[in-house]
Amino acid sequence: MAQKEKIIVLGATGYVGENFVPKLLEEGFSVKAAGRSEDKLKDKSFSNHPNVELVQVDVRDPDSLRSALNGCDIAYYLVHSMDVENKDFERADRMAANNMVRAARQCGLKRIIYLGGLGDDSAQLSRHLRSRREVEEILKSGSVPVTVLRAAMIIGSGSVSFEILRHLVERLPVMVTPRWVKTPNQPIAIDNVINYLYGCTEAQQTIGTTYDIGGTEVLSYLDLMRIYAEVAGFRKRFVIPVPVLTPRLSSLWIHLVTPIPSYIAMPLTEGLKNPVVCKNNKITTIIPQELFDCRQAIQKALNPL
Ligand SMILES: NC(=O)c1ccc[n+]([C@@H]2O[C@H](COP(=O)([O-])OP(=O)(O)OC[C@H]3O[C@@H](n4cnc5c(N)ncnc54)[C@H](OP(=O)(O)O)[C@@H]3O)[C@@H](O)[C@H]2O)c1
Repeated sequence: MAQKEKIIVLGATGYVGENFVPKLLEEGFSVKAAGRSEDKLKDKSFSNHPNVELVQVDVRDPDSLRSALNGCDIAYYLVHSMDVENKDFERADRMAANNMVRAARQCGLKRIIYLGGLGDDSAQLSRHLRSRREVEEILKSGSVPVTVLRAAMIIGSGSVSFEILRHLVERLPVMVTPRWVKTPNQPIAIDNVINYLYGCTEAQQTIGTTYDIGGTEVLSYLDLMRIYAEVAGFRKRFVIPVPVLTPRLSSLWIHLVTPIPSYIAMPLTEGLKNPVVCKNNKITTIIPQELFDCRQAIQKALNPL
């Protein structure tokens, strides 16, 4: 039997990473789970699995990145630099992606799989979504083939964008919101994201290709809030869209109402004005799976097994 490829998950301490590593282990892969903090890595459910190696890495440090990638065939790039240290997250993510391109070539990696963001290429794209796209372009500019999956909000407990929604609906029976409540978006359940990420290791035709991934519905944020309230058993929420709330004001407001710090709320809130909808569904035939609708995804997020 052919030996399974060695996989590294960069960003294993993040929301998507920590949900994805167990799937790879379940499927019999040996995995390097990589993150900046050893303590955070040790805290994860997968940390004691016999086929996992915990690797401390800072992707902005080329030496630590090279030593992490050594001996690996496939790298999942789930890194995102929006944290308290990085006011200029675009610069940090740019530097990290450039390091990744160089280290991937030097270490003879066979492929990279990157989870980025949906959104068209217009000049109105928010700083955050533009930066996600820039990382995609930098990774693709290297010699190692890159598979890109582009997603909108991931619905699951712990996903920052979902936690913002959850706290807004749970804490505010009446909300005054900016116009972004009407922006169309196509959220996806975390289980579906994990299946697509995993499917890429098996489906060779995904090598070097870009796909949009989404759930079964295109909704407005207003629809999402109403569905969340219904599924979570809250009384009907009243949402009053007003044109005068700037992204800065609404991010401060999100920071006040939710536990999400403003350095994360701000770039995410700016992006709420951009439609994030799949333009092609090619992936649904290459990696078929049952896609959840928004109600099912929220139910699963509220009642994990
Ligand atoms: N969550 C969503 O709703 C959503 C939607 C669409 C697309 N995505 C995409 O999915 C990917 C993963 O998102 P996520 O929600 O899992 O993000 P996340 O929870 O913020 O995790 C980000 C990860 O990146 C790591 N990281 C940051 N800077 C690093 C550095 N210098 N060196 C090494 N690791 C570093 C973090 O490690 P630390 O623990 O050390 O900070 C963490 O493991 C991102 O590309 C994001 O754009 C997410």
